[in-house]
Amino acid sequence: MLFSGKALSVQMLDNGIAELKFDLQGESVNKFNRLTVSEFSQALDAIEAAKDIKGVLLTSGKSVFIVGADITEFGGAFSAGPEGIADLMNKNNENISRLEDLPVPSVAAINGYALGGGFEVCLGCDYRVMGDQAKVGLPEVKLGLIPGWGGTVRLPRVVGVDVAAEWIAAGKEQRPDAALTAHAVDAVVPTDKLKDAALKLLGRAIDGELDYKARREIKKSPIPLNDIEALMAFFTTKAFVGAQAGKNYPSPVKAVESIEQGYKVTREEALKIEQQKFIECAQTDTAKSLVGLFLNDQKIGKVAKGWEKKADKKIERAAVLGAGIMGGGIAYQSAYKGTPIKMKDIDQKGIDLGLKEANKLLSKLVQRGRMTAEKMGETLNRIEPTLSYDGFDDIDVVVEAVVENPKVKHAVLKEVEGKVTEDTVIASNTSTISIDSLAEPLQRPENFLGMHFFNPVHKMPLVEVIRGEKTSENAIARVVAYANKMGKKAIVVRDCPGFLVNRVLFPYFAGFSMLVRDGADFQEVDKVMERWGWPMGPAYLMDVVGIDTGVHAEEVMAEGFPERMGKTFTAASDVMYEAGRYGQKNDKGFYNYEEDKKGKPKKVATEESYELLKPHVADRREFEKDEIIERMMVPMATELARCLEEGIVESPAEADMALIYGIGFPPFRGGIFAWLDKVGLDAFVKMADKYADLGELYKPTERMREMAAKGETYYGDDK
Ligand SMILES: NC(=O)c1ccc[n+]([C@@H]2O[C@H](COP(=O)([O-])OP(=O)(O)OC[C@H]3O[C@@H](n4cnc5c(N)ncnc54)[C@H](O)[C@@H]3O)[C@@H](O)[C@H]2O)c1
Repeated sequence: MLFSGKALSVQMLDNGIAELKFDLQGESVNKFNRLTVSEFSQALDAIEAAKDIKGVLLTSGKSVFIVGADITEFGGAFSAGPEGIADLMNKNNENISRLEDLPVPSVAAINGYALGGGFEVCLGCDYRVMGDQAKVGLPEVKLGLIPGWGGTVRLPRVVGVDVAAEWIAAGKEQRPDAALTAHAVDAVVPTDKLKDAALKLLGRAIDGELDYKARREIKKSPIPLNDIEALMAFFTTKAFVGAQAGKNYPSPVKAVESIEQGYKVTREEALKIEQQKFIECAQTDTAKSLVGLFLNDQKIGKVAKGWEKKADKKIERAAVLGAGIMGGGIAYQSAYKGTPIKMKDIDQKGIDLGLKEANKLLSKLVQRGRMTAEKMGETLNRIEPTLSYDGFDDIDVVVEAVVENPKVKHAVLKEVEGKVTEDTVIASNTSTISIDSLAEPLQRPENFLGMHFFNPVHKMPLVEVIRGEKTSENAIARVVAYANKMGKKAIVVRDCPGFLVNRVLFPYFAGFSMLVRDGADFQEVDKVMERWGWPMGPAYLMDVVGIDTGVHAEEVMAEGFPERMGKTFTAASDVMYEAGRYGQKNDKGFYNYEEDKKGKPKKVATEESYELLKPHVADRREFEKDEIIERMMVPMATELARCLEEGIVESPAEADMALIYGIGFPPFRGGIFAWLDKVGLDAFVKMADKYADLGELYKPTERMREMAAKGETYYGDDK
């Protein structure tokens, strides 16, 4: 053993080959934390000092290769300013260049995920062999960053500037076929043959059959590109990448700039340019938010896993009642992720629709080569359509997704409770009805709770798991386990009207209604909020949700929180509803909808909406952009703070992730609590107080005022 550490080791194999194996103790994955970086450097000392080494093989002792940098170390280092950031990056940059400069050839055997720094170290090797189940990629832009360990320097020298710019700016993981076509790797082999194949390749380089030195020279030299060609290529790429990412996400363009400025200089100079750009990105609010979001995501993942461990059994069989939009979606997702599911309806038409939708989604996967026809058949077989309760005595979780009507739901829930076993958990997908009130007719309310999916189920990551007064811990644990199995992000919240997400969404809609009432143009409000980062503005969002659904939910919220959400005027949504304009579902709402070339609904402005609104709103007037943002965001933020204070949601991290995953709150802002921390509670309270005459929704809570006075933040030192 040449070197043996806690993160990696170097062992001599036959024929003078040193195997440098990454295997971080006490962790399920390899990552470049400070320990690994430091041991990597010591391992290189040992390799450089050994006289008889003929080649180096990089391997992993885990199912992944290396997943990248340790993102938990970013927060501290990034807040230490440019020097702290450079300090975090320098050592591994040096390591990878040292690996590249060894007097012997090197090969990486990529057995699993090699992402970010994990792929950058592979690019430092002379050759790369990839297992057929592995993935490579440079996903740093997803954190608002760019690769910082030579990714923008070596990848363009290996695969060419165009492919490198595309890969890095999109941050996507690449599958073996794409990696091979791009020449990012030299061979793809079945995982069990990987080490042998890598050793063979290394042997050929050692024997002089392959000219590894020539390859290496290419990675260390400027890229021979004609100036005019380069100018054209980078000009168009930057414009395209910039338009794709939008101004709130600057790092993809910075990554292309790093390639552009680095291609004509040597490796050392290019690495310096890259580091400068990395530091610039690391200091942006976007990077701070996205890194925070990544950490929050890990936190909610851990909480969900914790629940899963508490479940009395694994979820092996599920059932869904109602094969409509939601029931069909739930059945599809369950089957797609491997849990067989009975799909019961009272109407054959409903079942046919549910199956048709599942078929459509699966066919798309087959067409795109993401699934074989055989797997599609297997998946469809996991959905068992039925008009009866036969076999319901063998089900672990039942999800109720029938029409949103308390009487119907009461009847259906009582009925199904009589058909299942004593321990079966029953969950309702209601979007508005209180879980405690739905539990009233049940014999076993401890086995009942909410499991609120979002539409469309296969796309929307969030599932709110709603605990009622009497819900048992085991019922929550089973449903979270089921959500995990379905690949969803489960967040456990307490019962209240609207639960968490809709409870804060409707105050936001109320802010919108007041703006329109006071003379704002709804299209202008949409534009401003979209520029602020929302995927769609409030009028458009209401059209997509369905104005009828929205108006109904508004009534529920008004009843639940009359002091803040009670109706005091005819809102724009009421006007649309009365006129039969239900939104995208019947092609007219605030906007009209037409089919675009791909058959998708495209919104077009219409005078009709303005005419309908005229009798109910003040004369049109211009609003400052900031006023629109503040009037929209203050009610949402104060309601979310209330939810935290009331224990509806446990932590700021869970609340922020729920809104990002549930309604697309702009990720680059990190979530509402992250946004409040950035604005500062003191400034926020002053902002809210400007609008005190708009009503209770604009009044910060006492706790917010107290926190503002003490200079406290929601995340504290948590990030
Ligand atoms: N559509 C959404 O955006 C959305 C989002 C989240 C939650 N939800 C909630 O999900 C539930 C279902 O909504 P949807 O949009 O899928 O409705 P939907 O009208 O598309 O489907 C309801 C289905 O339930 C069936 N049904 C009615 N009574 C039944 C019974 N006794 N047994 C079995 N099936 C019965 C109907 O035949 C129909 O197929 C509602 O509670 C709704 O609030 C909807």
